[in-house]
Amino acid sequence: MDQLKRQAAARALEEVRDGMQLGLGTGSTAKHFVELLGERVAAGLKVIGVPTSEATRADAERCGVPLTTLDEIDHLDITVDGADEIDPELNLIKGGGGALLREKIVAAASDRMIVIADDSKWVPTLGKFPLPIEVIPFGLGATRHAIEKAFAACGVSGQMAVRKAKDGHVFVTDGGHWIVDAQLGRIADPASLARALSAIPGVVEHGLFIGLASSAVLAGGEGIRVIERRKPKGD
Ligand code: A5P
Repeated sequence: MDQLKRQAAARALEEVRDGMQLGLGTGSTAKHFVELLGERVAAGLKVIGVPTSEATRADAERCGVPLTTLDEIDHLDITVDGADEIDPELNLIKGGGGALLREKIVAAASDRMIVIADDSKWVPTLGKFPLPIEVIPFGLGATRHAIEKAFAACGVSGQMAVRKAKDGHVFVTDGGHWIVDAQLGRIADPASLARALSAIPGVVEHGLFIGLASSAVLAGGEGIRVIERRKPKGD
């Protein structure tokens, strides 16, 4: 599996050109991309990256990839990031690693988002992977109630749980928020659910990435598949 993730990362790296400003994703697949990018930088490639998490910042620094922020620059050429699920429209569930907020800000600031994954992430319909919803701790009961109403309006339902870290304490995101993971099973209309969740005041962000991915690089036993999004970015 790790070999497949590295193959997908290597294929995405072929899209990187000298002088590019890059968004650097989070997770085990994106980490391969950062490592391979570091090798190219050591060999003379000139790029600058914006990390989507403190973990990726540390990896990029270790690999010698020069970094900046979206305060210093306001636009990126390509973001390369992993995903937890990818559907045939290239809608995604992200946030298994808890970095969904920065990942979405960085992807939205990029001309192109290339998703890299092993082909186990390819699904006909999103929802088997629990949907991460980043919330403000204040008023969580009321926010959960509003989320349940949004689920009902969009024809989905399922258990919600506040994410715990490995040490048993509540998982806290890089932005200081909490994550509620929702076991929905099947999300028939991810765009409607994304809009409904975004309208809830206590929801900071959610892991549905709709219309952001430009292409997906999927590595499997039979080789690499590159799937291009047909509609323009944002549609
Ligand atoms: C991080 O918050 C996530 O969005 C990751 O991109 C996603 O969980 C994929 O991670 P892996 O590459 O480790 O499967």
